[in-house]
Amino acid sequence: MNALEALQNKTMKFSIIKEGKATISVPLVDAVSKKLPVFYNPAMTMNRDISILLLRALGRKDMRVADILAGSGVRAIRMLKELPASIVEHIHVNDSNPKFKSVMTKNLRLSDCPSKKLIVTTEDANVLMHGAGGFDYIDIDPFGSPAPFIDAAVRHLNRDGILALTATDTAALAGTARDACRRKYWAEPMRNHLMHEIGMRILARKAQLVAAQYDKALIPIYCHATLHYSRLYMVALKSKEAVSGVLDLHRNVVYNTRTAEFGIRDNETQEEHDILAGPLWTGPLWDADLAKKIAKLPQRDETARLTSMIAEEAKIPIIGFYDLHGLASGLKVDCPSFESIIKALRKQGHQAARSHFLQTGLKTDADITTLRKIIDD
Ligand SMILES: C[S@@+](CC[C@H](N)C(=O)[O-])C[C@H]1O[C@@H](n2cnc3c(N)ncnc32)[C@H](O)[C@@H]1O
Repeated sequence: MNALEALQNKTMKFSIIKEGKATISVPLVDAVSKKLPVFYNPAMTMNRDISILLLRALGRKDMRVADILAGSGVRAIRMLKELPASIVEHIHVNDSNPKFKSVMTKNLRLSDCPSKKLIVTTEDANVLMHGAGGFDYIDIDPFGSPAPFIDAAVRHLNRDGILALTATDTAALAGTARDACRRKYWAEPMRNHLMHEIGMRILARKAQLVAAQYDKALIPIYCHATLHYSRLYMVALKSKEAVSGVLDLHRNVVYNTRTAEFGIRDNETQEEHDILAGPLWTGPLWDADLAKKIAKLPQRDETARLTSMIAEEAKIPIIGFYDLHGLASGLKVDCPSFESIIKALRKQGHQAARSHFLQTGLKTDADITTLRKIIDD
């Protein structure tokens, strides 16, 4: 029986689960669905792990936090239970689900979590943000695209505040649904091995354009594309000059299917075999020091594998990466190990690391000729 049938038959059962230091009651179902009476997706545990690691690594004090699409409230409960008390002043935890307050009461009790730092509401997220004043961290974790919530969020993000965006509409950002990408993100996606990095950069630019209207410059500080979603963290600088600097970095990117080269293209001309994407954010996607701090914090093994890979990738602030497997098969040689290729590139004075965006992705500042030669040797 699926979630909807169970609901209609009023047979839905709940189970008590643990995630981090939270204990919550969630629907017992075979498959996660939007139609659940309380939304909880265990596949998003790493998403929540990283939001907590990021707040811990930033080490700020007395933050006003908003978790505006809270589902079961697990993220806010974990923040209260897992972060040092000095980091969070209060959390405004909200979900338009009319049952949300009773869900939260139950989960706070199960988690033995004090509620004095929480404000719990059941409003539409945009209405809430317009009425609630400024925040130092706003978490937008919707079904599908975060686009409908970005305007209200950036308006109510304090100076130096952090905006956290999840996008699960991978089809739009990664180029399967091109029209949806044009409508929601005002850009052309790219459907090849680069698609998840290109999608992240398209998402960043969309938020930056919305923020620019309010003289706020959103600078990416951390991101990851994991399973079926993209997650991006940006810091809001209140400065017209910084906004101009951000807009200057919105460019198009070209990939040539014949040569496997990629780079920034300042006009929209397309040579034969060119694929064009953008406009998109061409600046760094990570603050490398922050990525290093995050990777060093205690965390689950699965999360540590990702954050340590990102800490290396973040040291190379360039656009795009090579598909090592694709290049090796083009050269008709066995795919070499990443370790050997990275070592050889570094020996020649290049930066090189795996890219978390693709299992066979290699980020390096070496050109394609150098890389092909090393693979072929
Ligand atoms: C993907 S779930 C959130 C999951 C949650 N952030 C977590 O980490 O478990 C999206 C939630 O947004 C809520 N929602 C959808 N539209 C909303 C709106 N306009 N305002 C407030 N809540 C909304 C849904 O009830 C649902 O619980």
